[in-house]
Amino acid sequence: MNILVVFYSMTGNTATLARAIAKGAREQGAAVRLRQVRELMPEEVIQKRPDLQKVKDSLKDVPLATNDDLVWADGVAFGSPTRYGNMSAQLKQFLDGTGSLWMSGTLVGKVASVFTSTSTQHGGQESTLLSMMVPLFHLGYIMLGLPYAEQAQMTMEDIHGGSPYGVSSISGVDSKRAPTEVDLALASALGKRLALAAARLAVPGQRAVA
Ligand SMILES: Cc1cc2nc3c(=O)[nH]c(=O)nc-3n(C[C@H](O)[C@H](O)[C@H](O)COP(=O)(O)O)c2cc1C
Repeated sequence: MNILVVFYSMTGNTATLARAIAKGAREQGAAVRLRQVRELMPEEVIQKRPDLQKVKDSLKDVPLATNDDLVWADGVAFGSPTRYGNMSAQLKQFLDGTGSLWMSGTLVGKVASVFTSTSTQHGGQESTLLSMMVPLFHLGYIMLGLPYAEQAQMTMEDIHGGSPYGVSSISGVDSKRAPTEVDLALASALGKRLALAAARLAVPGQRAVA
């Protein structure tokens, strides 16, 4: 199976979740592409922020996503930090570039999941995850969530992300609180589920759903 993990991340948390999802998919035997989307923040803004530059440097090995990656993938995990309860402009811009794939129906019947990171516990994780699904339905993706069968999301001992709508983390007001062990375990579990679901849906040379 071919699994694409595509994300935007400014301060690194969504990128950490992306790597954990990719790891889970690989452990399930999938071929995995980890990709980031194009930055829209002006270069001079990044240059004035050593913390942002550090994250950019840590992502230098991650190629930019293309529509061909979407065509290649049997399953995709889309990740974005929350921006006012919604996805980032960077990921939205990537999705807005998929018009030709929408026209041709190339992505119809593939499987997709979504993931996010917020600063605060009630800062819009669920609204972000649910609204990220909307354009994916238009493209024909079959959405895969994170059921409570992944019981780690039930625990109350610490503050963690994860919901039936997807993987998430809570980074604190300075965005420096990294995804927790629970967040990473759920991310890895999602990667595995995505690879398994893609394997069940994909018929070589055929769309799962016309
Ligand atoms: C313009 C902007 C809007 C944001 N909106 C929200 C929000 O609605 N709720 C929230 O909890 N955090 C919000 N945040 C914080 C980020 O979602 C949070 O820092 C996240 O962990 C960043 O992910 P990253 O490290 O992958 O960039 C916002 C940040 C920015 C810059």
